[in-house]
Amino acid sequence: MKKIAILGSTGSIGTQALDIIERNRSYFKIEALSAHNNIELLKEQIDKFKPRVVTVVDKEKAEILKSKISSKTQILVGPGGLKEIASIKNLDMVLVAVVGIAGLEATIAALSTGNDVALANKETLVAGGQLVMNTAKVHGSSIIPVDSEHSAILQCIQGARKKDIKGIVLTASGGPFRGYTREDLEKVTVEDALKHPNWVMGQKITIDSATLMNKGLELIEAKWLFDLDIEQIKVVIHPESIIHSMVEFIDNSVLAQLGLADMRIPILYALTYPERMPSPVESLDLLKLKKLSFEEADLETFSCLKLAINAIEIGGTMPVVLNAANEIAVKKFLDRKIGFNEIASLVKEAMKNHKPINEPVLEDILRVDQAIRKQYS
Ligand SMILES: NC(=O)c1ccc[n+]([C@@H]2O[C@H](COP(=O)([O-])OP(=O)(O)OC[C@H]3O[C@@H](n4cnc5c(N)ncnc54)[C@H](OP(=O)(O)O)[C@@H]3O)[C@@H](O)[C@H]2O)c1
Repeated sequence: MKKIAILGSTGSIGTQALDIIERNRSYFKIEALSAHNNIELLKEQIDKFKPRVVTVVDKEKAEILKSKISSKTQILVGPGGLKEIASIKNLDMVLVAVVGIAGLEATIAALSTGNDVALANKETLVAGGQLVMNTAKVHGSSIIPVDSEHSAILQCIQGARKKDIKGIVLTASGGPFRGYTREDLEKVTVEDALKHPNWVMGQKITIDSATLMNKGLELIEAKWLFDLDIEQIKVVIHPESIIHSMVEFIDNSVLAQLGLADMRIPILYALTYPERMPSPVESLDLLKLKKLSFEEADLETFSCLKLAINAIEIGGTMPVVLNAANEIAVKKFLDRKIGFNEIASLVKEAMKNHKPINEPVLEDILRVDQAIRKQYS
């Protein structure tokens, strides 16, 4: 039986992971779960999966939950609880599915304990890529990507030699505003931006998909996960979201991974890697697909992708700034305090004013992250 901890069990990825686990009770055992403040859902999950321990980041909500739980489940409180859960010895997998920078310290804690990590939280590798990859190497632990694009790459390189990989192609749906001009984007609303054409996801990643920042974050993530140069990573718009990404080899042969747009496939692959198990997702019926199409990404209109490329080219703490400023900007947009195009403007401004620190340690990353949040909130 695989012993699993899920950080962010109440979110989109967390609930889909639990859906898979519930269907395979003889294969997985839930040891620990976490929520930020959705204690109603967390209570249902505790009743169903009977974890040994849970953590609730919001202190007041944690107290309310304590008064409602009759089981033996231990309840930890505050952000430190995430690290505590991630550091439980001998877990088979820690699924990091919290949103935002909150995933960074927990991922490092899991890897340092020797636990393998199924990583959904992309902000972790964006802010702390080098540090996180070094931590995994030093402690002999593995990072298995959950993001569909990186899962696709991992699946395509099974059995391949690193030196045979020429590059990768990350596919992007283009989001709800594909084909829009900057003028069109001036008028879009929060509701428009939350209507992703193919995927149902949490709010932050849905907005990131609309600005194409999501693809920028994924490009940085891919660089670290697969040890690639930025020039080896291409982004292609593929509106049908059927090809989840591709690898090109030195002989110009290209391998792609295809499937319906359902995160339960990459989540299951990460939880069972290197094995596979039957999934609840429907088979891909090629005859039902009318066509698969591809377009160039519009980096001028969707400048967040360009900013992400700039940030990783500059390196050091610049991606930390990109990530923190983007989290702030997305929150402001969701709170209707700024317009859609101002997300990129705020990130650009924060990057312009930052003098990057090279090879940052965790303290540098957290300090820069906090400073940006304070300045731009
Ligand atoms: N959803 C997808 O299809 C998808 C695909 C690829 C990658 N990802 C990545 O996976 C991560 C999670 O995405 P999601 O869509 O599942 O997000 P989500 O639906 O918003 O869920 C986020 C989870 O994190 C918890 N959380 C929120 N703020 C937190 C904090 N400050 N500290 C600790 N926990 C916190 C939430 O708890 P409450 O529910 O209690 O607030 C919830 O459990 C993101 O990094 C995203 O980019 C998602």
